[in-house]
Amino acid sequence: MFFLLHKAFPLGLALISTHAAWAFGNEEIPAGESQATQQIAQMVEEDVRAEAKNGPARRDAHPKAHGCVQAEFRVLPDLPEAMRVGLFAQVRSYPAWIRYSNASGKAQNDSVGDARGMAVKLMGVEGSESGTQDFLMINHPVFFVRNAADYVEFQKSLSAGSPVKFFFPGMNPLNFRLHEFGVARAIKGKDVANLLDSRYWSTTPYRFGDTAMKFSARPCGPASAFAATATPDFLRENLREHLASKEACFDFQVQLQKLPGEMPIEDPTVEWSQKDSPFINVGRIIIPAQTFLSAKQLNFCENLSFTPWHSIPEHQPLGGINRVRKTVYDTVSRVRHALNGEQRREPANF
Ligand code: HEM
Repeated sequence: MFFLLHKAFPLGLALISTHAAWAFGNEEIPAGESQATQQIAQMVEEDVRAEAKNGPARRDAHPKAHGCVQAEFRVLPDLPEAMRVGLFAQVRSYPAWIRYSNASGKAQNDSVGDARGMAVKLMGVEGSESGTQDFLMINHPVFFVRNAADYVEFQKSLSAGSPVKFFFPGMNPLNFRLHEFGVARAIKGKDVANLLDSRYWSTTPYRFGDTAMKFSARPCGPASAFAATATPDFLRENLREHLASKEACFDFQVQLQKLPGEMPIEDPTVEWSQKDSPFINVGRIIIPAQTFLSAKQLNFCENLSFTPWHSIPEHQPLGGINRVRKTVYDTVSRVRHALNGEQRREPANF
């Protein structure tokens, strides 16, 4: 009898706890997450303040802007009924800013392996408290940290100057984070010569009305002719060369959460199967030919604040990593603007 109870009870618990994971877009907040978030925000703020002793305060992550360009975001006409949700319910176009960036806390040589960010800010968005809708992406489909508790460990090893300790925290192989290490290695190993030729993904999920989505931006033009890699800032130079005479284009795509049990909300290290749920084109991003390196524009872009939480409720960020980002991005943006004596404001137009 004891044996039976003992066997049945954990199974019962498992059934109760997995039940929630089977609902679409369902969040499950683990105990201790808000303390972990405060801890991360505090460590990150300390890093920003320490770095600012040597010059202007910068973003703690993604500090190197490869370029910040004007763009147009068009919602596609004739979308299937199921895709006409939130921003995609109305066929219209939005003026947008796009900031391309590195990811490491250091503004290093572009030949050093690193993730690349594409942060898109739509302006004039009704229903968003900030008036903007931000879509933050990196050039890999998954993130390398599962949740807030793990991010505390990552930030600690980063602040101690030994990020590898996060993946291999001691001699016991049971504690190795091999899956996360594989993701980080794949990200660092990418060869990117021109940012306009890379594909970008949200990695984390977002609401899509009553269900959830991940999103992606995929180049839709021919490959750029500019791919030299000889100088430390070749990504910016190739972007400048391309946009000096030609426009660029990305398809904006959404992947719906079709199988909640296999497409988790709380673990962005897991890729949602494209076989079970392919990405669907819902928008197009046009980056017209332009120059973007005036001192005024560079300064304007450094003072932008991107966060997944600049959003309409229909696309609210989901999952633990996104919940952490709510506090952390706000903290870092507030601190760096205050240290630099700059005002924080969302742009309303070009
Ligand atoms: C807990 C996890 C994360 C933390 C603590 C974190 C931290 C940060 C911080 C502090 C910034 C600078 C914000 C500012 O000063 O305005 C930033 C920027 C950024 N993050 Fe994250 N991040 C996390 C996860 C992610 C994920 C999953 C992605 C995947 C898309 C991502 C993509 C970006 C991008 C693209 C930017 C640059 C935005 C810009 O151009 O201003 N981050 N992140």
